[in-house]
Amino acid sequence: MIGVFDSGIGGLTLLHEIILQLPDEQYCYYADTENVPYSTKTEDQIKSYVDEAVNYFFQRKVKVIVLACNTATNVCIEDLRSRYTLPIIAIQPAVKVAVDNDPLHRKILVCATPITLRSVRFQRLVDLLGANNLVERLALPELVKLAEAEIFDEKATQYIKDSLEQFDIKRFGSLVLGCTHFTYFEPIFKKIAPHLSIYDGNEGTARHLKNILGRLNLNSKEKFSVEYIESGNPTQNIERFERYIERVKLLS
Ligand code: DGL
Repeated sequence: MIGVFDSGIGGLTLLHEIILQLPDEQYCYYADTENVPYSTKTEDQIKSYVDEAVNYFFQRKVKVIVLACNTATNVCIEDLRSRYTLPIIAIQPAVKVAVDNDPLHRKILVCATPITLRSVRFQRLVDLLGANNLVERLALPELVKLAEAEIFDEKATQYIKDSLEQFDIKRFGSLVLGCTHFTYFEPIFKKIAPHLSIYDGNEGTARHLKNILGRLNLNSKEKFSVEYIESGNPTQNIERFERYIERVKLLS
């Protein structure tokens, strides 16, 4: 079984991509519904929430954990990898993809949670790519709340428009959605700024997971299944998860 973790429903955008690439696995998707959004929490709080999810995954004897939450990755991944030998795959903003795909070296707008954008790990990524002059940061914490409330209408459009106003967006070549919740709003970003190439970390992370499973000979020989857990308990509202999955399918 593969454990996929997010603070809420954002990680379903990655889960969908993983299922496309690995259709014969058993999945346990853990949404920390009781504590979302993480961007208003302290790092210690986030570490303890992620620990609970990881302990849950250990009880369920998962073979690999996927952190489908950029915020949790930036706060916890080094600590988790130092404590456990189980493979832990983690999403991160797709800045490298944006850099590699623009021969004109235009500016890159990275939208994520404030915790991700001010993290040492994110800065290290930008440094490593030599992209300090290209990358601009935009925190959009409201989008996490709007996605959780299934609000994808005019209110979301207005919030995104207002937030983008501080940038001369014509000078940018790409937009990186560095929070899994933000992928739901990709059509809105596209409408507002059609000239931008938009990237998220989902495709790359799913491909990485597939490679790791292959390399470790951990591929499943059983039938596909998926179950949804909310902060340690099986969901009482499977329809809600299915609605989001349907929405993600419309994006691809
Ligand atoms: N999906 C999480 C991420 O990728 C959202 C964080 C939150 O709960 O604020 O960053």
